[in-house]
Order: sequence, then C-alpha cells, then structure tokens
Amino acid sequence: MHPVPDTGYQYVAGKCSAEMRRILLFILPILSVITLAFVLFGVFQAHAEERRQEDELRRKAKSVAESLEVSARYMITNKDMSGASELAERFQQRERIQGCVIYDVNGVILAVTPRFAGWPAQSKGHFEEIIAGRSHPDLLEKYENSQVYAYTLPVLDEDKRVNGAVEVIYDTSYILTTVGEMWKHVAVFLSILVLCVTLMLVLLQRQLFSLPVYRLTKWFQAFQKGETDEPHPVVTDGGVLGKLASEVEQVALNLRIARKIVVQEAVARLSQDELWTEERLRDYVRAKLGASGLVLVSNREPYMHVYNETMGKAECLRPAGGVVRALDPVLRACGGTWVAHGSGNMDRKFVNSKDRLGVPPGDNHYILRRVWLTKQQEQGYYYGFANEGLWPLCHHTHTRPVFRASDWEAYKAANEVFAQAVVEELPATDPYVFVQDYHFTLLPRLIKRQRPDATVALFWHIPWPNPEMFAICPFYAEVLDGMLACDLIGFHVQSSCNNFLDTANRLVECRVDTERFSVIRRNSETFVKPFPISINEVARDGYTAAEEGRIAALREELGLADKIVGVGVERVDYTKGIKERVYAIDRLLEKYPQYRGRLVFLQIGAPSRTHIKSYHDLLSEIDELIGQVNWKYADGDWKPIIYFNRHFSAPDVLPFYAVADFCIVSSLHDGMNLVSKEYVAAKHDLNGVLILSRFAGASRELGDAIQINPYATEEFTDAIVQAMEMSEDEKHRRMQNMRVVVRENNVYRWASNIITEMTSLKKE
Ligand code: G6P
Repeated sequence: MHPVPDTGYQYVAGKCSAEMRRILLFILPILSVITLAFVLFGVFQAHAEERRQEDELRRKAKSVAESLEVSARYMITNKDMSGASELAERFQQRERIQGCVIYDVNGVILAVTPRFAGWPAQSKGHFEEIIAGRSHPDLLEKYENSQVYAYTLPVLDEDKRVNGAVEVIYDTSYILTTVGEMWKHVAVFLSILVLCVTLMLVLLQRQLFSLPVYRLTKWFQAFQKGETDEPHPVVTDGGVLGKLASEVEQVALNLRIARKIVVQEAVARLSQDELWTEERLRDYVRAKLGASGLVLVSNREPYMHVYNETMGKAECLRPAGGVVRALDPVLRACGGTWVAHGSGNMDRKFVNSKDRLGVPPGDNHYILRRVWLTKQQEQGYYYGFANEGLWPLCHHTHTRPVFRASDWEAYKAANEVFAQAVVEELPATDPYVFVQDYHFTLLPRLIKRQRPDATVALFWHIPWPNPEMFAICPFYAEVLDGMLACDLIGFHVQSSCNNFLDTANRLVECRVDTERFSVIRRNSETFVKPFPISINEVARDGYTAAEEGRIAALREELGLADKIVGVGVERVDYTKGIKERVYAIDRLLEKYPQYRGRLVFLQIGAPSRTHIKSYHDLLSEIDELIGQVNWKYADGDWKPIIYFNRHFSAPDVLPFYAVADFCIVSSLHDGMNLVSKEYVAAKHDLNGVLILSRFAGASRELGDAIQINPYATEEFTDAIVQAMEMSEDEKHRRMQNMRVVVRENNVYRWASNIITEMTSLKKE
C-alpha cells in the first residue's frame, strides 16, 4: 500500500490531543477574561436590579400605607375598631401585599391579616423614632422561613403626636426570582459567546498555524529527498511564516545538494579495489542506496538502558550476542535506522517522542527505534516461540523444542507490532529492509503487505535444519509463508541454504530453482544464498598502550605469568558445549597429570535467557561441574578453571584473548560463532591456537584451527594438548592464515555482499 495522499486534515485529526492542548493554552486566557468580564457585569446588573426592585417596592408600600393610614386614622381617633379587621383584609388583597397590621398608640396590634397572626407588636418609641427619621420605616426580615418587606407608617393626630401605626407587609421572593432569571440569561449568553469565540480561535489557529506548518514539514521532507522540485508556495508571501519557510527552503536545498555530493563522492572513491573498511562500506551504501538508507530489524537492541543499583542511575549497556556485535559496526558505517525491542528497564527514558534515539550514545551514527512489547508478548514471542521453539529446533543439541499455541499467538502479535514500527520508519521511495533472525519469520510478509515496493532481506543467524526436523514445528506452513515474502534469505553456510531449499521444496507448494538458488512461489521469487558473517576487526599490528596495561593487570591479578592459559567466551547457552569443554579439561588433567598446576582455563559465561528453565538449570549445572573439577585438582592457590559468570564488554574481553595461549570454541551446533573470529583478530602477536568445533559455521573458513568434535572427549582432550604443545612456528603460520581470512572477509564485506544482492534484486 502506498502512502495515502495527505490533505493535512488527517494530520490535524491524528494530532488532535497535542493540538488541542496547544489551542487550549492559547484560548483559555482569552476565555477567562471574557468570562470574568461577564461575571462582573452580571454582578453589577443584579445589584442594580435588586436596588431598582427595592425602590419600587418602597414606593408602592409607602403609597399603600398612606391609603391605609387615612382609614386607620379615622378608626383610631374615633376609637371605633369594628371595621379594622375588614380594612386589613381589604388591603391585604391588593397586589402582592401579603398582610397589613394596624397598631394602637402603644404598638399593640389592633388588627392583623390572619397569615401574620404571629407578627411581633412594636413599641411606641419605634414609631417616634421613625417620625424623627432615626429609624427606617421599612425593614427586611424573616417571617416563617420567607423573606418579607415591612413598611411602617405612624398614624398621627392633629398635633402630630403618634396615635398608632399601620404596617404593610410584602413578599420579596419575586425580587430574587427576577435576579435569578437575569443570571440565567447572562449564563446562556456567556456560553454561546464562549462557544463562538472558541470555534473562531480554533479555526484561526488551524488556518494560520497548524496547516501551514504541516504543509511546510511535508514539503521539507519531500524536497530534501528530491521527491519534488517545486518551491514552497508560502515563501513569497512575506510575514513570519514566509520568513520561516524561506529559511527552511534554504536548509532543504543545502541538504539535498549535500546528499547528492556525498553519493557522487562515494561512487568516485569506490573505484579503488581495497579491503572492506567502515569508510568503504559507507561509500558503497551511499552509492547503492542513495539517500534511502537501510532499515534493519532485530529483536535484540544494540544499546540498552538499564538501572544500575550501585551507581544509582541508568547506564547504557551493549548486550552480549553475536548479532548485535556484528551489526553495530555495519550501521555505524552506513547509517540508517535499527528497529529493535526496547528491553532495558530504563529504555523509555531515553527515546524521543517517536521512540527514537541517536546511537552510539555521544557519537550518534544511526537511529535506534525502540519497539515496546507487553510482558506477555515478550514471554510468548521471545522466551517461548523463538527461544524454546525455533532455537532448539534449528540447533542439533538434542534439546526438545516446545511449541505452545499461546506462544505462537504472542509471536504473531509481536511480529505485527514490529511490522507497524518498521513501516513507520520506511522512506517514501526505495525502501530496503534488512530483517535479522528467527524472531521475525512473519515480518517479511507483513511488511510486504503494506509496502510491496520494499526490498526485504532476512538473515538467519542460526543453522537451518533438514525438512523432517523443521516439519516438527506445528506452524511451519505460516513460518515458511512469512519467510518466502522475502526477496532474499541469507544463511552463514551453504548447507543451511540447501536445507532451506529442501524444506521449501518438501513442505510448501513452490518451485525450487537449483540453478539460481531460489524459491518461486505464486508470483514471487526468493533467493537463498550463503553470506558468512564476520567481525569488524581490521589489520592491527599490536595493542594500544592502554590495552597493554589492562593485559598486564589481568595477568598479574590472576597469577598467570608462568601458566599455560586457555580461554572460552560465550553466553551460557546449551548450544555452546561448555559442559563438554569442562569434561575435556577434567579428562586432560587426569590423563596428563604433568599439566596440573600449569594450566589455567579462563571461562567467561554471560548469563542469557535465564527465565527459560533449560538456561536457568544450565547455569547451576555449569557452576557445579566447574566446582567439582576445581575441587578435584586444586593445589595451593592453583585451580584449573577460573569462571566469570557475568557479562563483559568487548574492551574488557580483549585482555582475556590476549593472555590466552589457546581459545576453545566447542559449540555443539552454531550458525557461525564470532568468538572464534574475535580471538583470531585479537592475537596480534600470532601467539595463540584456536580449538574450534567442526559443528560451528566458522570451521568452514578457519581451516587452520584445530577442529574438534566436542562430544568426543578423548579427541577434544588431545586437541587441547596439541594446542599447548604446538611449535611457535606452526602457531604463527596457522594464526597468520586465519588472520588473513578474518581481515579480508570482515563484516563490511559481508554487509556489502548482502546490499549488492538486495539492490540487484530490486523490482523496477
Ligand atoms: C544468537 C541469536 C541472536 C541473539 C543472540 C543473543 O546469536 O542468533 O539473534 O541476539 O543469540 O541472544 P539474546 O536472546 O540474548 O538476544
């Protein structure tokens, strides 16, 4: 599927929450000011309205009281109160009057509306105070839970003396109702206003800011990659955006030219025929892939952030394992993006908003895009299907593979998650995707579904079994279908290629072309080729002063000065034949006691996949086995095996290689094995012998190693003796030959071969 033509509207919708936050920040102050103004205005209006209503009431009450007073005066003067109640009744019926009261000269109630039977009597003094103007004639008070307004008018005789009083009482709740109504109108009007202003500001913000910036971003991406030649339209219309667009236009143009020059220079430099180096690979990739770059996918990430308890902060680790060791130099050379599972417990803290970070830390050469999986996905996909299923299935070590339906579901889900991330990282044109290993058999198909224009290669870093073995996997059909979406599948050695072609031929409906080494299925063709992986080590004549210092320190620390030293370096994995190695050392010290006290074997074992029972058990088995052998032969401060059960960084391993007179790689089955090549590359003085299992892929290239069958303990034992007794000349000759192989067939050559193949397969 090609990218959907983008109008910017999807963008605005997609980025809604961030945009909304920005818009809110912009409009909230404006809305607050409007609301405040309205509330103040409302308060003022309500107050004025209240005043007006009260004045009105006073005026009315006064006039009613005056009328009442005329009638009451007559009655009081004539001391004829027979009509008082009727009078009170009559007045009470007038508009909104709740009641009226007639008092005698002493404030005793003469007549009162029945509803106010409990109305308090007044004093004569109160009436006099009113006449004197010292007391208000009106007052607001509570009567039986309602607010009432009472207006008192003293009744005077001809000499202006108080003769009695009349009082009219009004219900004032209608004033509150009127003010309440007014507030309601203010609120409705305010809401409509806020809505209109918000709408207007959102539209304005989008038209003036979001869309132009979005279009500018799109244009920038397209122009600097050479996908469009048209200048940006806003540049000419001045204003702040115009100025920004003009700056962006210059940067885009410079970038575009810089890319072009880099590619041209790369092509020019490539004419020289020399060793493959980082620089040469960089030139080659630029010449071949141009600006597109490579998107590489692996489960294991090359840089991992984890919390270090001792340091009390996060640190960046380089995980153990051949794949990341080999591929990091490749990406450092050719740039691009590496997509991998963010498995470090501090990983999320170090990525940007798009889950990316520049690596290596402090010297960024490429982008690492971290992919997040749930614990459940990681358990089923990584520990389960990949490492308890496919890993033992592909390695002949007699470890029974386990295939659980739930692991398979998690594996499928994780491949989907990765596919999404990979597709997000792909360039608009000419995408090249380089998938690593058995964790991603379904990924090629998932990528091709979304980007049929992508060229996809998968490199299988472990052996491939024969068809009978592979068919044990209950999901083999889906696995093979996923893989056969690739344009290219690489293995370390020809025998794995042959097994794969055989497997496809037997288990899938397809045609295998044995001339072209390809599988043709439906309308697609997948090429299957060997590419023996290697390391980035290039010719070096010796160690640096710092390295010399570390080597001497190690020798001193472990008391190795007069010893014959052997070394083994690996993840603690049952495929590595660590137990077989200990059996051989045990047998050697038994059979050739003259080496007791003289031989020291240094074993580095980095814990690996320890949540899997077989790996967990292996850790304690090896511990126990080494403990037994050491106990059996230990003498004074000498013991035959020194075991370092932890992870070592590459610079920390180097002194171990340097002090070792021989290195044992006794894998029971291994795709390639890079430790063998690292040891050879590290022996600048040529003073070392490699003992190498014939079941490791590396044994095809490193013919000058002493080759062993790790299961054959006697043969293995004698091989170690042969290594220890080998003449200097022979050691040097063999090491020299192997160093030439490793130097020439380094990982840069490996990567260039794969890229050559991928670009030649690219569909036009
Ligand atoms: C082998 C696999 C790699 C893996 C490495 C380390 O070399 O081919 O894909 O990365 O082992 O194992 P881990 O499970 O720790 O990544």
